[in-house]
Amino acid sequence: AVERALSIIKPDAVAKNVIGKIYSRFESNGLKIVASRMMHLSRAEAEGFYAVHRERPFFKDLVDFMISGPVMVQVLEGEGAIAKNRELMGATDPKKAEKGTIRADFADSIDANAVHGSDAPETAAIEVAYFFPAMNVYSR
Ligand code: CMP
Repeated sequence: AVERALSIIKPDAVAKNVIGKIYSRFESNGLKIVASRMMHLSRAEAEGFYAVHRERPFFKDLVDFMISGPVMVQVLEGEGAIAKNRELMGATDPKKAEKGTIRADFADSIDANAVHGSDAPETAAIEVAYFFPAMNVYSR
């Protein structure tokens, strides 16, 4: 099925100046960028986005990191976009990410792990709506 996934290029990868390289990987693997915006998240915005992790021990560090600099937020659309994007990202912990994945190539640690991607259709819908009103998603 054609799906939409929410993707975030995190502050570490924005600082490394690799937005274009990461976009190229999406595009050359059949994912279309149908919405995008650069943002510097407020603490409240980051906490709201990661609300499902609120009780996890890494929550405070995660939020601190996500507000440490600008991020690039996009919606990826394509056949099986959620799984495809997860495959391109690699494992959450870059030390465990397969060679050639975004995290293996651009990430430094489990916190500074270059990208976020939706993990299921239900969370993808919530995450896309969190950043983009329907009229700002340019589906083709
Ligand atoms: P992300 O896909 O953005 O979702 C939650 C983030 O929490 C995750 O990527 C990691 O960057 C971060 N994180 C830090 N520690 C952990 C952990 N032990 N397990 C999962 N995620 C973690």
